[in-house]
Amino acid sequence: MSQQPQAKFRSDYQSPEFTISDIDLVFDLDDTNTFISATSKVQQLKKSTDLLLEGEGMTLVSLKINDVDHDDYTQTDTQLTIHNVSGDFTLAIVTEVNPQENTALEGLYKSGDGFCTQCEAEGFRRITYYLDRPDVLARFTTKVIADKKAYPHLLSNGNRVSHGDLDDGKHFVHWQDPFPKPAYLFALVAGNFDVLTDTYKTKSGRDVALEIYVDQGNLDRTPHAMTSLINSMKWDEDRFDLEYDLDIYMIVAVDFFNMGAMENKGLNVFNSKFVLAKQETATDTDYLGIEAVIGHEYFHNWTGNRVTCRDWFQLSLKEGLTVFRDQEFSSDLGSRSVNRINNVRIMRGPQFAEDASPMAHPIRPEKVIEMNNFYTLTVYEKGSEVIRMMHTLLGEVNFQKGMKLYFERHDGTAATCEDFVLAMENASGIDLTQFRLWYSQSGTPVLSVTSEYDEVKQEYALTVKQHTPATEDQTEKSALHIPLDIELYTRDGAVMELRCNNENIGNVLNIVEEQQTFVFQDVSEKPVVSLLREFSAPVKLNYAYSDEELIFLMIHAKNDFARWDAGQMLLANYIRANITHVQNNESLVLPEVVVDAFRGVLLNAELDHAFIAEMFVLPNHNEITGWFDTVDVDAIDKALGFIKQTLARDLKDEFSATYHSLKQEIYSVDHDAIGKRSLRNCALSYLAKTDVGESLVEAQYNSADNMTDTMAAMVSANSAELSIRETLMNDFSEKWSHDGLVMDKWFILQGSNPNIEALSTIKETMNHKAFSLKNPNRIRSLIGSFAASNAVNFHSKSGKGYAFLGNILLDLNVSNPQVASRLIDPLLKFKKYDSDRQTLMKEQLQRLADLDNLAKDLFEKVTKALA
Ligand code: TRP
Ligand code: ZN
Repeated sequence: MSQQPQAKFRSDYQSPEFTISDIDLVFDLDDTNTFISATSKVQQLKKSTDLLLEGEGMTLVSLKINDVDHDDYTQTDTQLTIHNVSGDFTLAIVTEVNPQENTALEGLYKSGDGFCTQCEAEGFRRITYYLDRPDVLARFTTKVIADKKAYPHLLSNGNRVSHGDLDDGKHFVHWQDPFPKPAYLFALVAGNFDVLTDTYKTKSGRDVALEIYVDQGNLDRTPHAMTSLINSMKWDEDRFDLEYDLDIYMIVAVDFFNMGAMENKGLNVFNSKFVLAKQETATDTDYLGIEAVIGHEYFHNWTGNRVTCRDWFQLSLKEGLTVFRDQEFSSDLGSRSVNRINNVRIMRGPQFAEDASPMAHPIRPEKVIEMNNFYTLTVYEKGSEVIRMMHTLLGEVNFQKGMKLYFERHDGTAATCEDFVLAMENASGIDLTQFRLWYSQSGTPVLSVTSEYDEVKQEYALTVKQHTPATEDQTEKSALHIPLDIELYTRDGAVMELRCNNENIGNVLNIVEEQQTFVFQDVSEKPVVSLLREFSAPVKLNYAYSDEELIFLMIHAKNDFARWDAGQMLLANYIRANITHVQNNESLVLPEVVVDAFRGVLLNAELDHAFIAEMFVLPNHNEITGWFDTVDVDAIDKALGFIKQTLARDLKDEFSATYHSLKQEIYSVDHDAIGKRSLRNCALSYLAKTDVGESLVEAQYNSADNMTDTMAAMVSANSAELSIRETLMNDFSEKWSHDGLVMDKWFILQGSNPNIEALSTIKETMNHKAFSLKNPNRIRSLIGSFAASNAVNFHSKSGKGYAFLGNILLDLNVSNPQVASRLIDPLLKFKKYDSDRQTLMKEQLQRLADLDNLAKDLFEKVTKALA
């Protein structure tokens, strides 16, 4: 490294020396030479007369103070310091950028034929020199100038105030955003789009124009996004009493995008993956993902835009809260239990893995080198769990009072996580002093629970110990305030009343000490306890359940989540046992009672189809990795394969009956139809492991009239390594190679191909005409799936999987560091593997560390991992 990147610390926060109240932007768009003029009203707030602006990757053309050329400034690669300025003044800066060459997709860049911007977190400084920090809020106007034929649509934040034609075939549109905002919420888009329009009447009766912009020819893939937007607007009014505030809401879908979507004020920019859907091209999972992301970005208008973050350490203030809101939205519109199950899978798999990695951090980080590295599962998903725990402790009514107070106090400002907790505390009267530790302490707490029944006293005692193991960022841990939701059942499955100290109590126990015992009275028989219902806290649970108790809970627990969790624990016991058997060269076992319990689930007509399907999804390789200090990749694979195979063999008739009875004649995407497809395709994935696999999979592929069923056939062929796989893959690629988004599904299958020859095919696949190392979706589909979910091949003893990823990272370090930095995560976790593999993984990290142009995104992760 020529210059060591510097870390910033949360504790160093200082309010700004200067602020900007208004900024007028003019963009003269050109592929390689775009000129941007930025005229700002600046106010000095403190005594310094040096105005320090952020800026990188552009040329400074001119600088004026109060209309006079000003050359009293100094410049570095990343900053411009203007000397001898004070009071109120006007700053006019002209910069020049090259959108065509911007492969990092931050700032202003070209996506296909159009222009777009991405400014969160620190991208605006690639457009002009600015106070690029979220606590500087300005009113923006934006004039966009471009060739009229190539770019008939010119968009920016707020309301369109004027437009007109100019010389040389150019035109302009002038936008004005009345809401002061930080620069990260700025957006500009220019292109030639098809537009779907609609209107929404808010509950106070205002009409809002809704516009969804997509590449030409894609209009038939936009209706679901529009429905999702309208549903989001209605839901936020109904559940949170929050109404939209501008007269127009625009969404633009682009093909080149580093993340999912971006909540720019009035002008969301989306990865096209989270907008475009029709029956022939999108799976049910895609449909639900679109609903969730459209909701997420819309909900940011209040939690993110109207109240933003004071500094980037507070990111979870908007992201954790907005994820909580989008999860509630999906749960209110669809299946609450299926949503909860999938969110918990993310926590127990990748989020727990992040806690165990060199990148461990609290939901409010203390130290950051590259902010883009902190858009993490911890900040987003664990952040949402922390909000959810407050919701559990306060209840819906008090929680909504807290939200109301939060907006009363902070609307139009940049706030902190502390401001949010204080509003919740003040509105509810519930003490959250100890609870606040969830914001500053990293890692996954472990709850170890034991129970004792006293028949004579008719008492049942639960002893709960909490312990948070040290993480790589933090060794000292304290006791947290953990809400533990429980239920006690009689032998016939009746719910027992919970009585403690001669009082009836609710289901949520407050765990606040290192060790606590709860004694329940009037317990007439030895109960079966259901613990951590709804995953009431993001912790690991240890309790020595017997198989009988777990099977009992699978049948009798009163909520679906608890039934699912019991099933997962039962499977976990046998996955662990069989991993040991593999290691000891013993024969593998899955007792008949376990198979029978799952048979019971499959035949239970009272259960939701979608829920039954979830019961049959085994914990995946990544989640199992979290159960061990040192991971035996091949043993996990064999144990999982054995369990799947055994269930498939023993339940073949039931799966077959399920499969044939759930065929639907007419396609629709309502939740009932999705549930039926989900269970039917779950049955197919098991039947693929039996002698009818080849023929069923082939028949389904050939008869499918929708992408969900097509993909289910292909996924089954891929994971069961059926011989039909090649035929299906070739057919699919011929049909869809013109469509990158659809081909991503195919690239994922190539990347996650369990065949031991997969890597050489993956390398060839990089020459496929639909593949490009410039497009983040393609990279993630092929290479991301290989590194993150093809454990056996990625961790091949030869080291070839690691070297392949290392080579790709060397490329992306230059072209798109943000994407590189997400792709590298599996390599950071080398400590989980045997010493041979550790050496090979570290070799790849070292290759990067040795670069003299290592991007700071990768620098932060590589140095942490190798430290
Ligand atoms: N704020 C966005 C969201 O959560 C995510 C985001 C952050 C983002 N940085 C980005 C999106 C960079 C695209 C590119 O909704
Ligand atoms: Zn977000």
